[in-house]
Amino acid sequence: MNNKYAVLFESQLLPSGVELKNRIMMAPMTNFSSNPVDGTVTDEEINYYIRRSKGVGAVITAVANITPGGKGFKGEIGCYQDEQIPGLTKLADGIKSQGAKAILQIFHAGRMAPPELVPNGDVVAPSNIPAERGETSGVVPRELTVTESEEIIVAFGEATRRAIQAGFDGVEIHGANGYLIQQFFSPHSNRREDQFGGDLEKRMTFPLAVVDKVQHVVKEYAKNPFIVGYRFSPEEPETPGITMGDTLELVDVLADKGLDYLHVSLQDFWSKARRGADTTRTRVDLLLEKIHKRVLLIGVGSIYTADDAEAALKTGVECLALGRELIIDPEWVQKIKDGNESDIQTTLDLDGKDALDIPDAFWNVITFVPGWFPGVK
Ligand SMILES: Cc1cc2nc3c(=O)[nH]c(=O)nc-3n(C[C@H](O)[C@H](O)[C@H](O)COP(=O)(O)O)c2cc1C
Repeated sequence: MNNKYAVLFESQLLPSGVELKNRIMMAPMTNFSSNPVDGTVTDEEINYYIRRSKGVGAVITAVANITPGGKGFKGEIGCYQDEQIPGLTKLADGIKSQGAKAILQIFHAGRMAPPELVPNGDVVAPSNIPAERGETSGVVPRELTVTESEEIIVAFGEATRRAIQAGFDGVEIHGANGYLIQQFFSPHSNRREDQFGGDLEKRMTFPLAVVDKVQHVVKEYAKNPFIVGYRFSPEEPETPGITMGDTLELVDVLADKGLDYLHVSLQDFWSKARRGADTTRTRVDLLLEKIHKRVLLIGVGSIYTADDAEAALKTGVECLALGRELIIDPEWVQKIKDGNESDIQTTLDLDGKDALDIPDAFWNVITFVPGWFPGVK
């Protein structure tokens, strides 16, 4: 290995006691390949993960919905009933058999749920304001009652129990990308005036209650060290909407919650704050300053080469997640380890579906949108 990249391979001991063998993780990526009828994991999905679990310290799976009403995509993993545990076990075993820690990402889509995927087309959200990003096919979501909101918090706990029983090493709470947890934090989608809405602090109530519930379930059920991470998106484009300043306040609270890591969701690792903080500085830089080493931060976003990763780690983030690049080149980590970083592929081989172990449904999605994946025109 070129010595300059040795930094990628430093092991990381997490507060829970789980040790990651290096600093590279597979980013959570929905792959549309679970059984569309019952959310059970399919063999081609497991093979896709096995192929990508050899080099990285941990694999964070695609999102799994914690209730039927929280489904965001066709072919999504389900973790809302115990019947799904055997498939989840196969998935966790497949990832762990290759040496990576297995982390299940859990979520509820809220207003982003397509009506045709949820029972009775009942799309729910913190408030019933119309969509602005076209996320619910024009459907105005129904406002959750307090009781329903509390039931969803309990469902996050139940999903965590299933992840533990399936043998996962951890869960990542998906509080990013505009889904339900983010919707509760957002002044755009949360206009409530009860205990789950109001000022910034009150809008943290639901996300923090989910964290508390998940941690409580871990204490109750996990016999081995179990990772709990939290993913967030730093900013929303709308006004009102989450600003970098809002996120720094949320992160300040999350940093003292005893989580294993925080994971910022970014398309570009080097992106700068849009508003609410110093807009000349990168979001990662602002987050690291606020966190002040109280909890690990995972960075992500358009990391393709060994040099990209080395430069990103120099900022001080403890770990990096790679998404598209690990689809393009599943052997990315091993190539660097073996000193073969010049062999890394950074554009998707459009004839490579089978050689790359990419499930049919996933292949159709990633090759359909021009420019989303390098190499797709
Ligand atoms: C096909 C695809 C599916 C994704 N699905 C999820 C998801 O399920 N959960 C999530 O938090 N982020 C998801 N993301 C975002 C990625 O985790 C990541 O933040 C983003 O792709 C930027 O990283 P990259 O440049 O390394 O791909 C997805 C991204 C892609 C490309």
